[in-house]
Amino acid sequence: MASPTGRLSGKRCLVTAAAQGIGRATVEAFLREGAALVVAVDINVEKLNELPSDRVVRRVLDVRDGEGIKALARDYPDIDVLFNCVGIVHQSPLLETADQEWDNSFDVNVKSMFLFCREFLPKMISLGGGSIINMASVASSLRAINCRCVYGATKAAIIGLTKGLAMEHVQDGIRCNVVCPSPIASPNNRLEHIIFMGNKRIGRLAKAEEVANLCLFLASNEEGRVLQHIREKNEKLIKLLRSAKRREVNEHFCCSCSLPGIVRNILYKYRDDELFPLLFLVHKYFPIKL
Ligand SMILES: NC(=O)c1ccc[n+]([C@@H]2O[C@H](COP(=O)([O-])OP(=O)(O)OC[C@H]3O[C@@H](n4cnc5c(N)ncnc54)[C@H](O)[C@@H]3O)[C@@H](O)[C@H]2O)c1
Repeated sequence: MASPTGRLSGKRCLVTAAAQGIGRATVEAFLREGAALVVAVDINVEKLNELPSDRVVRRVLDVRDGEGIKALARDYPDIDVLFNCVGIVHQSPLLETADQEWDNSFDVNVKSMFLFCREFLPKMISLGGGSIINMASVASSLRAINCRCVYGATKAAIIGLTKGLAMEHVQDGIRCNVVCPSPIASPNNRLEHIIFMGNKRIGRLAKAEEVANLCLFLASNEEGRVLQHIREKNEKLIKLLRSAKRREVNEHFCCSCSLPGIVRNILYKYRDDELFPLLFLVHKYFPIKL
């Protein structure tokens, strides 16, 4: 494990699905790197109680509870980093999926992110900026996975939501990113998944801690610096866009980026003769052929 260097020093963070898996690993990474406060949200009381108490507020809350989210935003308004990690996996073929299963998947996976963003963004903007990280998956608009029609639809919606948010709030200093991991190692998720996902070259699944490290990077101010660097390195692209007639240039421009192993696409916005990097679209942690 890397030794802590205070990358989140002083930051106030909120993580949903904080009790286990990626959410929990991220809470631990945020604390290790000096976060002033982590509000850890989950419905699993026992597992929430396993989190350390120093600088952690445990909040038992169902993310479908809109009033509960409003109350949380009143109690902890000054959040710099919002990590919407929560997600449930509905697994069945479309023809065997009930209305209620569809609705519940969208309520937990997508609507909760809309609600958290809507409640926490105004204060984040008034504080001069912040970082929103939304959890999607390769099972989304990126890739189909058998029996995960509903899950994939929710995760594709999260990509769309994050793109829209990034565009709407880039000038408010809000950085919005969507993380799309391949399967994470867990007791139920082993060799068959590696083979299924074509990850044979790596020969192992990702670890929750590895995704947590990416979230740490996106939560820190380092991401802003990398975006600046990418912008500077893309002079050629900027010239190309400037030379094109305005109406021929889409307002958004998606560009591949070669930062090894981490980032797949960056969504740019072209406006006022400037090219703004808006968000990292995809965390392509393992070399899955998309
Ligand atoms: N595990 C993977 O292979 C993988 C791969 C790609 C993306 N993801 C995504 O990462 C996120 C975390 O997945 P994971 O596997 O690390 O977590 P997990 O499934 O191990 O844990 C999910 C947590 O969410 C909590 N939760 C569930 N419903 C809730 C609700 N209504 N309100 C509040 N909390 C609720 C649970 O109590 C649990 O602690 C999810 O969005 C998932 O879709 C996971």
